[in-house]
Amino acid sequence: MTPVRVAVLASGGGTNLQALLDALTGSLARVALVLSDRPQAGALERARRAGVAAAALRDPADAAELLAALTDADLVVLAGYLKLVPPAVVARFRWRMINIHPALLPAFGGPGMYGRRVHEAVLASGADESGATVHYVDELYDRGPIIAQARVPVRPDDTPETLGARVLDAEHRLLPMVVLELARRGVPNEPVRIE
Ligand code: GRF
Repeated sequence: MTPVRVAVLASGGGTNLQALLDALTGSLARVALVLSDRPQAGALERARRAGVAAAALRDPADAAELLAALTDADLVVLAGYLKLVPPAVVARFRWRMINIHPALLPAFGGPGMYGRRVHEAVLASGADESGATVHYVDELYDRGPIIAQARVPVRPDDTPETLGARVLDAEHRLLPMVVLELARRGVPNEPVRIE
C-alpha cells in the first residue's frame, strides 16, 4: 500500500512537524511536503534537513497557489499554522485537513488564541486541566469537529511557559497518533472521532 501523503503547513519552529517526521518513518504515512507562510520558519529548515520538499507560500490567501501546491496530498496537517485557510481549499480537503490546537476546544480557541495567550487564558480561568486538541479544519479558526484530545493537569504554580511546555509534550504524542490512525483507516471522507 502506498503511504498516505501528508502535507504539513506551519508558521513557526516546527516541533510538531518534527514529532511527525520522527513518528511516521517506515509507517503507513509519510510527510511529503512542508509549506509555510514565513520563509524563515524553522519548520522549513527541519523539512529540508529531513530531505522533505519544502516551500514558502507567495500569498497564503491565494487559494489557487495552495491548491496547486497540495495537488498530491492525501491529508493536510496544520501544525502551528497561523493563517486562515481559504474557503476553496477547505472545501477541496473537507475531512482531510486537520489542525492541532494547544487547549481543550471548544474553550480557549478562535481568532488571536495562539501561543502564550492560550495558556495565559487557561491559567486566568482557574481551570484545573488543559491539553491539546486535533480537529478538522473548516472556514473558521478552531471550530471544526474534534477528532481527539489529550488532557494534562494544570498545577497551582504553573506559568504560561510551564503549562505550555506540558501541553506541547502532549501535542507531540497526540498529533502522530491521530495521523497514523487516519492513515490506518484510509483517511475516510467523513468525520472520525478517536477516543
Ligand atoms: C503549537 O503549540 C500548536 O498547538 C500551536 O502552535 C504551536 C506550534 O508549535 N498551534 P511548533 O511550531 O510545532 O513547535
